[in-house]
Amino acid sequence: MKDHIRQLVQSALAQLVTEGTLPADLQPNIQVENARDRAHGDFASNIAMMLAKPAGMKPRDLAEKIVAALPHDAQISKVEIAGPGFINLYQNHDALARRLDAALNDAKLGVPAARPLQKIVVDLSSPNLAKEMHVGHLRSTIIGDAVARVLEFLGHDVIRQNHVGDWGTQFGMLLAYLEENPAAQQQGLADLEGFYRAAKQRFDDSEAFATRARERVVQLQAGDETCLNLWRSFNTISLSHCQAVYDRLGVKLSMADVRGESAYNDDLPGIIATLKDKGLLTEDQGAQCVFMDAFKNSEDQPLPLIVQKADGGYLYATTDLAAVRYRHTQLKADRVLYFVDQRQALHFQMAFAAARLAGFADDAMQLEHMGFGTMNGADGRPFKTRDGGTVKLVDLLDEAEQRAYALVKEKNPQLDEAELRQIARAVGIGAVKYADLSKHRTSDYSFNFELMLSFEGNTAPYLLYAYTRVASVFRRLEQSMDDTLPGQILLAESAEQELAAALARFSEVLNALADKGTPHILCTYLYELAGLFSSFYENCPILSAEQADTRNSRLRLAALTGRTLRRGLDLLGIHTLERM
Ligand code: ARG
Repeated sequence: MKDHIRQLVQSALAQLVTEGTLPADLQPNIQVENARDRAHGDFASNIAMMLAKPAGMKPRDLAEKIVAALPHDAQISKVEIAGPGFINLYQNHDALARRLDAALNDAKLGVPAARPLQKIVVDLSSPNLAKEMHVGHLRSTIIGDAVARVLEFLGHDVIRQNHVGDWGTQFGMLLAYLEENPAAQQQGLADLEGFYRAAKQRFDDSEAFATRARERVVQLQAGDETCLNLWRSFNTISLSHCQAVYDRLGVKLSMADVRGESAYNDDLPGIIATLKDKGLLTEDQGAQCVFMDAFKNSEDQPLPLIVQKADGGYLYATTDLAAVRYRHTQLKADRVLYFVDQRQALHFQMAFAAARLAGFADDAMQLEHMGFGTMNGADGRPFKTRDGGTVKLVDLLDEAEQRAYALVKEKNPQLDEAELRQIARAVGIGAVKYADLSKHRTSDYSFNFELMLSFEGNTAPYLLYAYTRVASVFRRLEQSMDDTLPGQILLAESAEQELAAALARFSEVLNALADKGTPHILCTYLYELAGLFSSFYENCPILSAEQADTRNSRLRLAALTGRTLRRGLDLLGIHTLERM
């Protein structure tokens, strides 16, 4: 609706330009907001106040001209000017009801396909395989997954890429250790973290071992088959640990989405050669670097993007340049989104800039670092175990499920064990994911089990419960919210109108999320929707409504709310329950 109104205002402004009321060179950013107080309309724009000065008019006078020039539109029932020159618009409730009726008949709930449709690479999760996945990769995985799901829902062609760290000098150490301990391999490296620590210990303690580890690196890089086989089996096992976490989280990632750093090994000499040909390389203390004017440190010294070490080895940045080129030339991506810790912001700015200079990407391909903040513990410091170690994701998820189990059992002691477990899983995992997704992507946040498992507030349990309330309305009728329902939507009561207006905003919310890569917008929306459904449910009896028309209409509104909540949660990667 807001986009639609923006277009109406746009055409009114164009007419005023033609009439000579407004100068032709204005490029205003037309803002349309949902009105805070519905007594003053449903939408408001401050455009007259913004343009009054350049137009040389009083805001209210300009507002009148704009209102007069607004095209007639079936969605708008009334337009008013208020205060210093706000333009307030009232939604036509009949038109709104027809739109929602149409949404009920549409598998996509009335959300139109995006335009233009794009090919979008989503770089997500991307843990380093030498170690166990830790909480830092939780954010990348679930935020990236939610955004990828929404992009797909809007019709885009989405390619997920798990850019795992599967190459580098630490693998020499791991291989040398694996040779010494073949049993560890048989046990599927059950404790990857412990394995890494033990290998590191050996490396630090024994000169002979360290030498062997370095040899393995050289052999690995030279393509030695024995070493490569060992390396492959290490990665296979390590990736299977990751896959277990993805499956448990309900994240849409599979082995087929893995395209790790090593996939670009053969491209790296060519990357350096191209940078050299383009005159972009400078040698600095033996290392090959790209210096760009835009990147200086606080003392105004140029910052290097190091692409090759003095010993000839390549780096993280080199691989990222190769990945950009691959995504451009092979995948033909229109847009690439990187869900990576905010602390890598400078790396990506520099890598993107260098990639453009070298022609690995053209101007049309959008490269966007979707950085995220740190997950902190209750003390506001990066999340750590009691003894200061990194928190393993599996342990975190285990605890979430256990806590959810206790909570649900307390609320519903009569549930049988199997159902209890199933609910605990959905609530526990959902709570961890939702707590993360509902925070603004770029801010740090404190991980807090009590808050995320609360049945009040903007939490997964609250929303999952709200959904089951809608489902129960239909269960009592021995129907489903997915059935074709008779009648049509009528918007008489204000609780109905508010719920309807919120339902009509679904598409706008998804588009904003797709644009900015911010799942919290959808969380806030679903939370509001659940709240509006509550008021509707209290104020507008459904099953006891006297008129059949009213009852049908309210059931239709309830069904659309239920489907929107379920779809919205699904797009966040959260599994709904029919009862809890
Ligand atoms: N493996 C890296 C890390 O754990 C993240 C990789 C992100 N993706 C990329 N294309 N650089 O920090």
